[in-house]
Amino acid sequence: MKRATLAQPGGLDRLQITEGPEPGEPGSGEIRVRVHASSLNFHDYGVVAGVIPTEDGRIPMADGAGVVEAVGPDVDEFRIGDHVVSTFFPKWLDGPAPIDNFTTTPGDGIDGYARERVVGPAHGFTHAPENLSHAESATLTTAGLTAWRALVVDAGLKAGDTILTLGTGGVSIFALQFAKMMGARVISTSSSDEKLERLSALGADHTINYKTTPAWGQRVLELTDGKGVDHVIEVGGPGTLPESIDAVRIGGHISLIGVLTGRAGEVPTAKLMAKQARLQGLIVGSRAHQREMIRAIEANDLHPVIDRSFSLEEIADAFRYEESGQHFGKICLTF
Ligand SMILES: NC(=O)c1ccc[n+]([C@@H]2O[C@H](COP(=O)([O-])OP(=O)(O)OC[C@H]3O[C@@H](n4cnc5c(N)ncnc54)[C@H](OP(=O)(O)O)[C@@H]3O)[C@@H](O)[C@H]2O)c1
Repeated sequence: MKRATLAQPGGLDRLQITEGPEPGEPGSGEIRVRVHASSLNFHDYGVVAGVIPTEDGRIPMADGAGVVEAVGPDVDEFRIGDHVVSTFFPKWLDGPAPIDNFTTTPGDGIDGYARERVVGPAHGFTHAPENLSHAESATLTTAGLTAWRALVVDAGLKAGDTILTLGTGGVSIFALQFAKMMGARVISTSSSDEKLERLSALGADHTINYKTTPAWGQRVLELTDGKGVDHVIEVGGPGTLPESIDAVRIGGHISLIGVLTGRAGEVPTAKLMAKQARLQGLIVGSRAHQREMIRAIEANDLHPVIDRSFSLEEIADAFRYEESGQHFGKICLTF
């Protein structure tokens, strides 16, 4: 079985394609999946680039989609041939978040999906959407579910709401797609005018170049008659949060998702207090959230935006491409 492994300390040149043992037959409560696709996330990049230390020889990648090859005893939910997609927290099935770290996350705390076959607990997967390819399904585990939880579960998005997305990475493009699917208005930013055109083509109602308009929070206020947006999909962290606080309406909601500009920094607390806004951190979502998202994707025939796909052997090149920031939406591995 072909797989990618990461030697410690990490680094893109420390990724190796090796032959690993076949995983064998699934035990009670387990399934064996022939993995056909994965997708790249900023967190996976942190692991393979060595920013997030992990175990020597770790198989990277949190996201996996494929076909059930074998079903162990006591598994009722899946049959051989079913298309499935992995979950980010294999043990968080439902209810409030029980975990604040990545010790159970595939590709970080445990081996991930940069491999052709895996045996694991059935509850670490859900059915994949019937309308999606394996590569499209593989984008849902991390980026898709994070956007879904932020907007639908935490923010309680309603038709007519206005949301703000930052940049054109995987999470932000999903947020744009889900928000349009649910009848919301969307204001989107990017560093590139060419990408702004692509955001408009996807349905963004207004776009802002955050490089040429550094006070983009004020621009958002102008675009919303001085009111501000109902929800912000905050993927930037300390470097963008002050503008996001400017951009949110009084009593609005900011989903604190990402750290693209750094892991710590100053927050204009007085302004946040005056805005009476809710600032909520989150990490992805539960298996129950994933099933709800998949139901919505099927009902609306939504297709994730895949910029480019690479083979498993090209995994380091795929991450170099993510590092370059050229992508719009998701980068996938197919194998
Ligand atoms: N909390 C969670 O559960 C969770 C889940 C998934 C991801 N995340 C985090 O969310 C962030 C985004 O993840 P991703 O996978 O979507 O990343 P990604 O696909 O690699 O997105 C990168 C994009 O972000 C945009 N960007 C970079 N710096 C920016 C800035 N200063 N202001 C606005 N946009 C900026 C750029 O868009 P343009 O090229 O258009 O400028 C860039 O192409 C990461 O920090 C990641 O760790 C968190």
